[in-house]
Formats: sequence, C-alpha cells, structure tokens
Amino acid sequence: MEHVPVLLKEAIDLLDVKKDGTYVDLTLGRGGHSCAILSRLDKGRLFAFDVDPTAIYESRPRLESVGGNFEIIEANFAKFDSELLKRGVTSVDGILADLGVSSPDFDDEKRGFSYSKDGPLDMRMDPSLPVSARDVVNRYDERRLSDIIYRYGEDPDARRIARAIVAAREEKEIATTLELAEIIKEAKSPKERAKKGHPAKQAFQAIRIEVNHELDVLEAMLGEIPGMLAPKGRAVVITFHSLEDRLVKRAFRSLTRAKQGNRNDPSSLKSDEKEPEFIDLTPHPLVAGEEERKENRRSLSSKLRAIERKGD
Ligand SMILES: C[S@@+](CC[C@H](N)C(=O)[O-])C[C@H]1O[C@@H](n2cnc3c(N)ncnc32)[C@H](O)[C@@H]1O
Repeated sequence: MEHVPVLLKEAIDLLDVKKDGTYVDLTLGRGGHSCAILSRLDKGRLFAFDVDPTAIYESRPRLESVGGNFEIIEANFAKFDSELLKRGVTSVDGILADLGVSSPDFDDEKRGFSYSKDGPLDMRMDPSLPVSARDVVNRYDERRLSDIIYRYGEDPDARRIARAIVAAREEKEIATTLELAEIIKEAKSPKERAKKGHPAKQAFQAIRIEVNHELDVLEAMLGEIPGMLAPKGRAVVITFHSLEDRLVKRAFRSLTRAKQGNRNDPSSLKSDEKEPEFIDLTPHPLVAGEEERKENRRSLSSKLRAIERKGD
C-alpha cells in the first residue's frame, strides 16, 4: 500500500517552514512530509533520517524531483544531534518526527510486521539490528515475554499468550508471522477475543517495540530536541499509540511548564521558579479530521504535539 502521510497539512503548518531555515525530518519514510518541507525551502536545507535502506532508496528520487537542498542520513534518530554536529549543524529551525512503521513496510510480508499476511518473523525497521522478532519469540523466557506483551502491548492476556508461545516453541521453533498470530489468537480469553480488532494486534505491537527499542530511542531523541532547537525553532511529533504519546506529552510538558520550587519552603519558590524556554503549541494534541479518518486508517490513532523555543 502507498504510504499516505498522516496529518500532513497540520504538521507542515505547525513547523512554519521558513525558506532559508534548516529542518530535520527524523522519519523520512516514503518522503511525504520531507517533500512538503523541501518544496517550501529556497536557500534552506533539509536533513532526513531513516534506518530503513528501502525507505531511503524509494524516497530519494521523490525528494530529488522536488529540490536539491537535502541530505539523507541513514542512522537511528536516537543520536540525531551527534549526526548533525558531525555535519557542522549546531541548531535547527524545525524538527519533525512521524513515528512508527510506514504502510509499505507494514504491508510487505517479507518484513514480518503483519499479523494478517504470512512472512518470516522479523519486524526490524533497521535490518542490521542483531535481534529479530524470531529471536524474541523463540529465546526470551516466559516471564520476559509476558512482561513485554503486557507493558508494550497493554494486552491483559499477556501471561496466557507468553505461556502459549513457550509451549508451542517446545514443539517447533516459531518461524512465521501467521504461526505466531494463530498461537496468540488461540491463547486469548474468550472475552478478549470477542473484542474488535485483530486478536494479535497488541502482542505484535509489543514485540515490534521490543525488537526496535522504540520507546528507548524515542526518549533519547526527545531529550536531544531542546539542545538542537534555535530560538523560534519548532518540534512536531506524531505518535500512533498511547505509550509513545505519553512520553512525548511528558517531555514537552517538562519543557513548557515553569519549574516549581518547594511549596513547603516559600523562600525557594522565587529562586527555583524558572521561566520555561519553550511554548506548548498544542495544549490539546491534534488528531485527524473526519475526512482523513475516513480515507486513511493509519490516521485513526494518530496524535500530534508541538512546541516552540521562545525567541526574539
Ligand atoms: C511512519 S514512517 C514516516 C512516513 C513519512 N513521514 C512519510 O510521509 O512518508 C516512519 C519511518 O521512520 C523510520 N524510523 C522509525 N524509527 C526510526 C528511528 N529510531 N530512527 C530512524 N528512522 C526511524 C521507519 O523506518 C519509517 O520509514
């Protein structure tokens, strides 16, 4: 399936692209957001990150057809600041992240993300990562599997699923996505199985988060944003599930709210109370409008949050 960029207009409007500014797209994907940024630049530049060589291969010609002022960086966004510093870039005017897996990768059974198409259990966005979903499912002990499925998938049947995985792999190594999806489906309680949506959706999400260290790299990236944003610079982050959104909300809140002193010690209030350096541009996160929700299923769970560094 073609990747339809989510919340494209909202994200680009909020980035407020200046034609001579420096911008970073941390999740190039198929280049939807990057092309929109690039088309607004004149002397400005765009740096676009991705860990997936296929995404880079496919989006490069798209970007080239829009403009030449870009560099694609094949690296994890967890260390985007050091990648930019290596290139002499010490601050930027805008940072965009549109998290998760892009639709063409999700739909490509060879990548092993899909619970509805059979393929090798893989789920690595970066194919050079040492641990795939097959390793997680066949090597982690039951307790660890159960914790992951509960924490990252918020699946109430995590223990049942972990037990079923361990029992199945004692017979034979679990090698494909549909084998795993079937084991999960069978393990679910009747109550959970009766719910809407694919019964393996949450456990697959959990294993994918584990394989790609998605929450750790997101936290690392969020921690680098304040140090890289120029005055008036903006950061826009689009998330697709509550675990991601919670991290973004927390990080942005801590940047945009005044640090409180110790309420029991009034003398500390004045000295400790620091005016925040950032403004919250989305006190309520933006969600997709009705039309986008109808046309693009991926948009259903999306949330967009944005901040701006104060400046003159
Ligand atoms: C949802 S897609 C982005 C789609 C893009 N905005 C578009 O319009 O085509 C997310 C992309 O980010 C990449 N990605 C995810 N996590 C990453 C990370 N930690 N570092 C670099 N790239 C990452 C994925 O490989 C995927 O191509």
